[in-house]
Amino acid sequence: MRKLGFGIIGLGAISPLHIEGIEACEGAYLAAVADVSEERAQLVGDRQSAPWYTDYQELLARPDVDVVCVLTPSGLRAPVCIDAARAGKHIIAEKPLEVSLQRVDSIIEECDGANVKLAVIFQVRFLPGVVAARNAIVQGRLGKLVLGGAYVKWHRSQDYYDSATWRGTWELDGGGALMNQGIHYIDLLQWGMGPVESISGRVATLIKQRIEVEDTAVACLKFANGALGVIEACTSANTGTPARLELRGEKGLIIIEDGNIVTWQVDGDEEHVAETVETGSGSTSPMAITAIGHKAQINDMVDAINQDRPPVVDGREARKSIEIISAIYQSSRSLAPVRLT
Ligand SMILES: NC(=O)c1ccc[n+]([C@@H]2O[C@H](COP(=O)([O-])OP(=O)(O)OC[C@H]3O[C@@H](n4cnc5c(N)ncnc54)[C@H](O)[C@@H]3O)[C@@H](O)[C@H]2O)c1
Repeated sequence: MRKLGFGIIGLGAISPLHIEGIEACEGAYLAAVADVSEERAQLVGDRQSAPWYTDYQELLARPDVDVVCVLTPSGLRAPVCIDAARAGKHIIAEKPLEVSLQRVDSIIEECDGANVKLAVIFQVRFLPGVVAARNAIVQGRLGKLVLGGAYVKWHRSQDYYDSATWRGTWELDGGGALMNQGIHYIDLLQWGMGPVESISGRVATLIKQRIEVEDTAVACLKFANGALGVIEACTSANTGTPARLELRGEKGLIIIEDGNIVTWQVDGDEEHVAETVETGSGSTSPMAITAIGHKAQINDMVDAINQDRPPVVDGREARKSIEIISAIYQSSRSLAPVRLT
């Protein structure tokens, strides 16, 4: 099988995990990189022995680029993804896919029209304990689902926000503790518990940092299957604690912390069998996470192209967490519950 050429657009903090994932994948190689910063583009291009560009259109014009990883700030993803789809490239976009549902839909529509595959990074979904939890739910082993919780209570310093001008802005970050940090576990919550029917939420910006977006958020959810759920997220605590997912059914309880199972009490099971992996924790720094999930997602994209199947997390899957978060923002503004369509 021919190796697929990968291009990377946006060479900031998250780009080393994509480079590591591409290098570790047998079916992929790094074909080119681009960043508006000439210094960054040259630095990474020279280090990786890859052609580098300051105009991503030149990268998209290369016939040896099959897939592009779009790692620009969240609110700058749509124009790049749309250009990539029009150039016939498959896309791996970082989370969140974009900062509004309208822009998310425009990316999905463009990829559908161009018949290119779109994968969105939700690396935690690929970890063995999370996969085992999801399988247990799909097999009905938790029985009727009753209560789910996603808790992402982290710390982000002013230095973190000052490290790039887009961070903490509504326009380019799209939100804070929910849209940037909490989104991974909000995605897992809906993946495990099923579609959300209605949400009441409140968000607040409570501590003195130079940011526009929320640093603290809570929400109360009703799922379409009747179960109830809770979301708590913050970046305002003085210290971060492990991100936590709780899935409770009448026959079982599974708790995940930082991507690994910490509690598995499922009727009839002695113990869970999923491997524990080194994930790192994003609780105080986004850069403390390991590349394990990114590697799995890059492999999944290569397999999806070679087998002509959708990637595990496609645009429609990635839309779900953004719909939930948008509803929490709307509910907080209106002080009323929001029904999801
Ligand atoms: N999956 C995860 O756990 C995870 C972790 C961190 C960040 N992210 C996501 O990755 C994205 C990037 O975050 P980051 O922390 O790497 O940001 P960053 O600011 O460190 O890097 C963004 C890079 O994009 C470049 N850029 C901006 N516009 C561009 C354009 N038009 N063409 C080419 N390059 C352009 C900037 O110069 C910068 O180098 C965000 O959407 C973020 O939410 C995901």
